[in-house]
Amino acid sequence: MMMTNTANAASSPQAAGSGQQAANQDTQTSQADLLIPKAKTLALDEIRIAAARSSLDEGAVTPGNGPHREAIVKLLNDALATELVCTLRYKRHHFMATGLSSPAIAEEFKVHANEESAHADMLAKRIVQLGGEPDFAPDTLLGRSHAAYDESNDLQAMIRSNLVAERVAIETYRQMIQLVADEDPTTRRVLEHILEEEEEHADELSDWLDK
Ligand SMILES: [Fe+2]
Ligand SMILES: [Fe+2]
Repeated sequence: MMMTNTANAASSPQAAGSGQQAANQDTQTSQADLLIPKAKTLALDEIRIAAARSSLDEGAVTPGNGPHREAIVKLLNDALATELVCTLRYKRHHFMATGLSSPAIAEEFKVHANEESAHADMLAKRIVQLGGEPDFAPDTLLGRSHAAYDESNDLQAMIRSNLVAERVAIETYRQMIQLVADEDPTTRRVLEHILEEEEEHADELSDWLDK
């Protein structure tokens, strides 16, 4: 009786302990399963690599660019139109502000115009790398742009319209980054770089709005 009790007393915690261990293992396993989904094993796709060896006429475009390449080129072309319209708007504002004897803000508009133009070049370069064609057609530019052109003659109205355009650009780039995040990491990095500068532009314009 005594032995049985002792045995029971001894085995029960053990049983409970091993049960707990098993439960812990189960938890660890399920957590690991969550971290590395079974469908995504760490193995290269040999078929895609073999396909990348051929089709040399496609340049940097490989099967990894996936089925959304054309949709990404379209997104980039709309962003290109936006950057070109922003360049034109800032250029007009630069020359008009110069006429209003406001050299500091006129200079700021010029810097922004040059940076928007550089953004346009980055987007056009990426479009070509993806096997697309950058759309510089002037007759459809404004219709494809997310941001508006502006012909204000008043400095505060110029600053305000540029800030609106920058905020539209920021929101557009954020959404684009989310859309291409896993599809196309190179495009994502280009967009992230541009987004960072648009946020700086918006910050600078906000400061001018308060002056
Ligand atoms: Fe830009
Ligand atoms: Fe900007």
